[in-house]
Amino acid sequence: MDPFKYLKPKKNQNNNSQGIVIPIASGKGGVGKSFMSANLAIALAEMGHRVIAVDLDFGGANLHSFLGLSNRHPGVGDFLKARSAELDELLVSSDNPNLFFLPGEGKTPFMANLAYAQKIKLISRIHRLPAEYILLDLGAGASFNTLDFFRLSSNGLLVTTPEPTAVMGMLVFMKNFLLRAIERQMVRNYAVREMLHELYKRPMDEQALSIKDVHQQIIDEDPQAGEEVGRIFQQCRPRIVINMGENPDDSKMASKISQILGEILAIEADYFGFVYKDRSVLSSIRKRHPFLPNYRNSLAADNIVRIAQRVEKFWNQPVKDSAALLFNHVKKDFENRQRATDAA
Ligand SMILES: Nc1ncnc2c1ncn2[C@@H]1O[C@H](COP(=O)(O)OP(=O)(O)OP(=O)(O)O)[C@@H](O)[C@H]1O
Ligand SMILES: [Mg+2]
Repeated sequence: MDPFKYLKPKKNQNNNSQGIVIPIASGKGGVGKSFMSANLAIALAEMGHRVIAVDLDFGGANLHSFLGLSNRHPGVGDFLKARSAELDELLVSSDNPNLFFLPGEGKTPFMANLAYAQKIKLISRIHRLPAEYILLDLGAGASFNTLDFFRLSSNGLLVTTPEPTAVMGMLVFMKNFLLRAIERQMVRNYAVREMLHELYKRPMDEQALSIKDVHQQIIDEDPQAGEEVGRIFQQCRPRIVINMGENPDDSKMASKISQILGEILAIEADYFGFVYKDRSVLSSIRKRHPFLPNYRNSLAADNIVRIAQRVEKFWNQPVKDSAALLFNHVKKDFENRQRATDAA
């Protein structure tokens, strides 16, 4: 039984004309962002939603392979080089009539340092893409490109494994994300920008005071700007998925993450799911088959469908105590499977 199901979804959450943009990021590489982007997109499309999966991992574009598609199509890179007039002209269809793919670099690779104006152009066009859900597969780490694309939503999705290095990478990503958001809000305040550049370099354990200090300093200098920065903290509420878990106890990591995020960065997050490490994922990659439609009975497929259901119901609302709910769900699910195995 899914404890999340007792929470009531907000009414009319999807009836604005713009699609819901879900940027997918991580601090550490190789934690499963592309796997998650592709399969969450497939799951939402199978639930009847029109979905576009966008590859924004400039330098490491491989979302097409997780979708079982080729990479011979022009993409976002060509749009930015003005070889293509509109983004939606570049959409590639897939086996699922609800699911479209928007390639990244296309025929214009090496876009590591996009000018801010180019990013603004791209971001405004992404918001206008014709879909209910627009999933963005981002590159690993906290480059300015990735941080700016993650800002397309105040609650993007972070993927981590239960490994401490991956979790730490995610926390550093969120720290840099907040600093970048403050910096963009304060473009003309040189004193604050200088202070922020200093903070980008500081290790995580020195951040607790620093982030509150930054906020206080901004309030002192410019109370209105301080209020705006306060709103950034309030609105920032990432969604977190723990991938490649090896046992149910790995889902306890959600509570630890929640505590650290609150203490050090003064933000909250919602925990949207737990996906087991599953050998069938490797098999799907070797065969170049998209995972979800070809391994329906696997544990990871079940986990991903559950995440898609939560996205459909709860994306636009905070989910109270979701770290504890997630752990309870993973534990119950494990016990049910144990019972079924014992009975067989
Ligand atoms: N739940 C899982 N079980 C088993 N293998 C997985 C799982 N999730 C991802 N993988 C495998 O881990 C590897 C890394 O996944 P993926 O490429 O999606 O990570 P990424 O975060 O996008 O990496 P990068 O930072 O390089 O873009 C892939 O081989 C993928 O198939
Ligand atoms: Mg990737």
